[in-house]
Amino acid sequence: MNNNQPNSFLVVPSGSLKILSLPPTDTDENTNHPWLSLIIPTYNEAANIDKIINLLSQMLDEYIPDKYELIVVDDNSPDGTWKIAQSLMVQYPQLRVMRRQNERGLSSAVIRGWQVAKGSILGVIDADLQHPPHILLQLLHSIEENADLAVASRHVEGGGVSSWSFARRFLSRGAQLLGLIILPRVLGRVSDPMSGYFMVRRECIAGATMNPVGYKILLEVIGRGKVGKISEVGYVFSERKEGESKVTWKQYVEYIHHLLRLRLSTGNLGRFTQKFPIGCFIRFGLVGLSGVFVDMALLYLLSDPSTLALPLTRSKIIAGEIAIFNNFFWNDAWTFADVTIQQKQGGQRLKRFLKFNIICLAGLGLNVLILNIVFNLIIPNRYIANLIAIAVATMWNFWVNLKLSWRVTQVK
Ligand code: GDD
Ligand code: MN
Repeated sequence: MNNNQPNSFLVVPSGSLKILSLPPTDTDENTNHPWLSLIIPTYNEAANIDKIINLLSQMLDEYIPDKYELIVVDDNSPDGTWKIAQSLMVQYPQLRVMRRQNERGLSSAVIRGWQVAKGSILGVIDADLQHPPHILLQLLHSIEENADLAVASRHVEGGGVSSWSFARRFLSRGAQLLGLIILPRVLGRVSDPMSGYFMVRRECIAGATMNPVGYKILLEVIGRGKVGKISEVGYVFSERKEGESKVTWKQYVEYIHHLLRLRLSTGNLGRFTQKFPIGCFIRFGLVGLSGVFVDMALLYLLSDPSTLALPLTRSKIIAGEIAIFNNFFWNDAWTFADVTIQQKQGGQRLKRFLKFNIICLAGLGLNVLILNIVFNLIIPNRYIANLIAIAVATMWNFWVNLKLSWRVTQVK
């Protein structure tokens, strides 16, 4: 199907989930670009899709005629939602449809929709009629009153949920409380951070590369966007009449993963982790731990009276060197794999190994020095002193190896 037929699907964007600014010339006043782009993410909504499109079109044709677009983003629903949506395009000229076949997930669906959207206000609403369409007008009014973000909230005046079980209410509130603890800077800004019904000014999120997990797209917008004034409009999350919710335990686990990832990559901690590759450091530490086991096992096999009973220093040198081999192998294959893959020649690998060895032997010297200083001057407990010495030596080994052994030097 070519793209200029009236009911052709939108081309699915690929690559990063980055929202772009509108081209400078395209401002609402002098083009027929829409003001509002409303994304309707769908998965198995065949029984609801024509109702929601009809309701939204009727209302918006009255309120902002020709200044809006509806974008259905369907993830190849087995019930053929995408096919029904496609057939509706003839009747609703403001409707555009994207059928994704290689990507799945609510949050990424919304962002892919925003990536092809032409409006300066980007919104999202569920397709299952649980988000009352008339609330849109109040959200738009909030944006007209200069809000950057307008959120439909179940937890403000006029808000509520109609038929959730106690368990679902408890889980939703529990998730919110957890979020307030992990990411107060984001979740503390709205009363219903779980809401999937909101609209935001494009310029607040333009240029931000979203990295969502699961359902909670609003967390990404507040966490990664530059959002100033936020307005909330109360609404009652109504009972689903057709189809069923796709929320499972998986969404709750993804939510925690999402919170932690946002915590690590935004705010002050985000600025630190951008400079200090925390994921890489954790892998380096785990490899170092494996080296400790190798070292200890070999020291036992070589020097214990019940085994080979070799002299302690000679055993330690052999065990230590083999542990360095072990650590180099895993760091090269796993910790710094992104660099290794760019420098695969044997000579480059040998060079990395020699640097790694020298740095680790220097680290061993630093280890012994710190152990003696701490044990003799600060804490007369050899094991605590050793732990402190290992921690300092690990930081030394990591940082110097990161800067000297595993770095992509652009050879001119
Ligand atoms: N494209 C796409 N891909 N759409 C999806 C997917 C997916 O993987 N999963 C769900 N959807 C669509 C559904 O078709 C529906 O339109 C909307 O996202 C919400 O999905 P539900 O499964 O109905 O979620 P819910 O009713 O339990 O509501 C929860 O999620 C909503 C997210 O919008 C609650 O957290 C609400 O607060 C929230 O609004
Ligand atoms: Mn729903």
